[in-house]
This record gives sequence, structure tokens and C-alpha cells, in this order.
Amino acid sequence: RNRHPKTDYQYDSRQIPGRPECLSTRKELYERNFPVYKQPAEVGSFSLDSKRRFFNDSRQIRYYAKLDRRPNFDLTDGYRDRYVKRDESVKENLNHLLQWILANRAAVGSSQAAASPCPIDTDFVTWRGHLTKLLTTPYENREGWLLAVTKFKGTLYVSEVETEAARTQRQNRTEKHKEMTYWGYKFEQYMCADDAQSVPNPGGVVNTNEAFCAVVRTRLADHRLLFSGEVDGRDKDPRAPPPPECYIELKTSAEICTPKQRSNFHRFKLLKWWAQSFLLGVPRIIAGFRTQDGVVVDVETISVSEISHIIKAERNCWKPTVCMNFCCAFLSFVKRTVTEDDPSVVYLFSYEPYGDVTFTVHRDSQYSFLPPWYVEELIG
Ligand code: A3P
Ligand code: MG
Ligand code: MG
Repeated sequence: RNRHPKTDYQYDSRQIPGRPECLSTRKELYERNFPVYKQPAEVGSFSLDSKRRFFNDSRQIRYYAKLDRRPNFDLTDGYRDRYVKRDESVKENLNHLLQWILANRAAVGSSQAAASPCPIDTDFVTWRGHLTKLLTTPYENREGWLLAVTKFKGTLYVSEVETEAARTQRQNRTEKHKEMTYWGYKFEQYMCADDAQSVPNPGGVVNTNEAFCAVVRTRLADHRLLFSGEVDGRDKDPRAPPPPECYIELKTSAEICTPKQRSNFHRFKLLKWWAQSFLLGVPRIIAGFRTQDGVVVDVETISVSEISHIIKAERNCWKPTVCMNFCCAFLSFVKRTVTEDDPSVVYLFSYEPYGDVTFTVHRDSQYSFLPPWYVEELIG
């Protein structure tokens, strides 16, 4: 049995004896071979406009053109007078992704029509951002998470629930923090244009309702995944490789002046950057390094596939394989746990730093998240 290569056996060893309702998050348990993660394939995309309206097309995609390595972007410009902020108190759950699924039944459905017991041909449907949280969990000792899971017609839908702590934090953000959040979006505006022929327009309004989202299919070990993530831009060269390889991720970070700052950047920031881009198959991150006052003084391209080498010099650093093996074990745990196939039942999985993942079950509760328009369409 020890020589058996199947992940199920290895997964069992991660459960706490006598507590099948828990999953350990200890990183030592996940240090083994990198699991199979298929290159994500784009199956479609959608856009959200300045009023957060859904469009089943790529109208919001933005175009990135390599420019000045030593710019002088003032990220605070427009914060007071050219900023429209999305209302974060509105919980959208999986709604836009579900809307995309209904608009693209032919692309995601199994070969049988509506009568099929599994009309959506995948094990999991979720947002890329939720998977990013799972990947970083073994290294996360500040923020917990809640993930609601509903099984419906054979597919597991995973949607985040805001924790009490996150809500309190959101409602008590300092003025400085709000301004710094704007910086990341302003950088996007400096770096990308609305079409391949034009140049970026830093004089425009930054509206965080707008989004371009790619939908991909992939597989992690024996888990088939269908998920969507926001994409910041694409290579404007029409000869660039097809999506998701032509996509880029934009990031800002404080400029690095000391070895300690470099080490922290590798150990904490690159973990989140890597997890986010790797999942969607985005190969390049364009990083803008800024001063304390929010002026970008350096722009560097970071190759996602090289991050695992860049961090190897750090002692006690995070490991991509731990991230992927933990995510895989969590998905196995969900498959074993979420057995009742019912759109009004939610299994709520919970993680708090230094703890195990645990769950509770809720029927017709505040946690139900599959909207009636989706359920009815699939019941047919
Ligand atoms: P930076 O990442 O450059 O700080 P993304 O990088 O995922 O495309 O997100 C764009 C910007 O949204 C971020 O830019 C940041 O300003 C803001 N943002 C994203 N996630 C956030 C979070 N959890 N809290 C606060 N701001 C966030
Ligand atoms: Mg983004
Ligand atoms: Mg970004």
C-alpha cells in the first residue's frame, strides 16, 4: 500500500485520525511531488461595463504595450476627481460566471442535452480568486476564509463568504489605505490602452466596475475545474500567442531598497502574485515599483515560470508544490464531504490561521448562493 501512487491514500494520511470532518493545513504534509496541473485552456470570456453590466464578449479587454522602464507615474493623480469605485458591499457570489455559463451552454455542457444528470461538464465551478486563497492557505497566518459549496446536478459550486473579520476591516479602512488601493488601478490605466492602435490615456476616469474576465478549463490531479478570473491586459501584438498566453498581470509594489525588503517581497508578495497568475496560465507579470508617495519609478517584467527559481535563494520560503498539493487535498475533501445534491444546501468550509479546515451544513439559509434563474434553467 505504501508504494501505491494514488493521491487518495496520501490524502487520507492528511486527515486527523478520528476527525474525518477536518483537513490539516500544515505545510509539512504537502511537501511531495508537484501534482498534475494541465495548462489552462480558455473557453470564453466576458466583460463588465462601467455600470457592472454583463456582456458575453471581450469588449473590456485592454492592450498592453511595453514602454519606458523608468517612468514617473503619479498613482495618486485622479484619486479625488476621476475615480468611480465599485460598491464592495454588494455580494455578487458566482453570478456573472453563472450568467456566462448559461450564455455558453454548448461550450460547457456535456454531450447529452438538458436531460443529462450532469449538464455542466466539470467537477468544480468557481472564481480564480477563491483558488488563489486555497493555494496560499498553508502560508497564511493572518486572514482566515469561508467558502460555501453547493452540489447541483453533479457539479460543485464554490463561492466565498466574507468573514466577520474581513467585513470589519473593509468597513474601517483608513483614508491612506483607500488611497493605496486606488494606486493599483491607476497603474493599470497608465500601462494599458483601450485598443491595440492607441496609447494609454492617464487623463481618463478610473472605474473599478469595469472588468474583463477569462473563463478557463483545466484539471488538478483528478479534479476538473472551470473557473474565471479578471485579466488586466493582453499583449497588443496581433501575432502574440493565443489566450491565456498573451495575457499579462499588472501589479504594484513598494520599491525595494534593502536586502530585508527584497526578502519580504520574495517570501510574501511573490507567493500571492505567483498563485494568481499561475492558476489562469498568465505567463508574465508587469510590476511597477513605487515610492512611499505612490510614484512608479521602475517597471519590470517577471516571468511567472521563473518565480519558483527566484525564491529558491530564500531560507524557509514558500513552495509551489505545497500550494498545489494543499489545493488538491482540499478539493478531494470537498468531494468526499459534499454529498447531498441540492441547490439550497450549502456546506460552509472554514479556515482560521493555525487551524484545520472544518465545515458546517446549512439548509435554505442566508448562505445559499445559486440564484433561482440559474437553478431553473438547469432543471429545464
Ligand atoms: P495591486 O495588486 O497592484 O496592489 P489585481 O492586481 O488582482 O489585478 O488587482 C488590481 C488592484 O486591485 C490591486 O492592485 C489593488 O489596488 C486592488 N486590490 C486587489 N485585491 C485587493 C484586496 N484584497 N484588498 C485591497 N485592494 C485590492
Ligand atoms: Mg486585475
Ligand atoms: Mg493586477
